[in-house]
Amino acid sequence: STERQAGGVTGFTDNPVNAAMARVLDDVRREDHPGAVADYIPQLATADPEAFGVASVSVHGHSYGAGDYRVPFTIQSMSKPFVYALALEALGVEAVCARIGVEPSGEAFNGISFDPSGRPENPLINAGAIVSTSLIPGVDGAERFATIRDGLSRFAGRELELDEAVYRSESETGFRNLALAALARSTDALRVPIEDALDPYFRQCSLLVDAHDVAVMGGTLANGGVNPVTGERVVSTAVAQHVLSVMTGCGMYDRSGAWMVSVGIPAKSGVGGGIVAATPGEYGICVFSPPLDEAGNSSRGVAVLQRMSSEFGLHLL
Ligand code: DON
Repeated sequence: STERQAGGVTGFTDNPVNAAMARVLDDVRREDHPGAVADYIPQLATADPEAFGVASVSVHGHSYGAGDYRVPFTIQSMSKPFVYALALEALGVEAVCARIGVEPSGEAFNGISFDPSGRPENPLINAGAIVSTSLIPGVDGAERFATIRDGLSRFAGRELELDEAVYRSESETGFRNLALAALARSTDALRVPIEDALDPYFRQCSLLVDAHDVAVMGGTLANGGVNPVTGERVVSTAVAQHVLSVMTGCGMYDRSGAWMVSVGIPAKSGVGGGIVAATPGEYGICVFSPPLDEAGNSSRGVAVLQRMSSEFGLHLL
């Protein structure tokens, strides 16, 4: 039976998984994990640095959580694998891979990382994510965002809302993303007007989620594309496998190699402080803590997933 009920998640206390996750949060809270809340988008700087939560959802639809797993925050770059999945589902692997690579860039999330044929190196850096967004069917940016919001809501199992203030803040200050989109347009990776890709990209990053929502999203990938809570098939099994493979190599930017060695779970971080992880056939997990390390990954989030991986034997290898 699932613990999810209308209006919230219940049954979170008298359960060994919840107790173990609460203990992991306490342990990590006591350690020193230096980090700073992202401030390159002014509105993100208002996040509470002490917010800290974790949620997991099994492929059978059981929900677990500890700490601030019901505190809303913006999805940011954790949207990227899911929009990429929607693009693959709509266009097929060949068409998408003709425009976006699947290689780790070894560079920062906002790096100028294009391969010799002009494709962004992968869909999880900003350049590749903007191209993914451009591939979502729609006559313009508004229609594209409507499709994205609907798709991400199906991954989450509930209708996701936009944080207008973060969206405005990001679109007023996103000059580097404008430059990356212009470079992608110059190489022909991007074939729609820049605004019709960039505006829905800023909006997708500004969708509000909590850790439980994102654990369901990750659980949908872990479950071969079927949402484990609603039972709805969101993408094909092949698409879910493809996306998890790319997350394995590229999800943590220039820390992806160290991440695979120490944690060993496909994952994706966001500058809102979330990290989504998915153990194939088992769990979707999301940790939330806004202060970020130098690579732009949640400092406490990395520590929690390291610990959960070793304590619960989640390393894939
Ligand atoms: O493109 C941006 O600047 C952000 N909206 C998303 C970047 C992000 O989350 C990078 N992640 N660690």
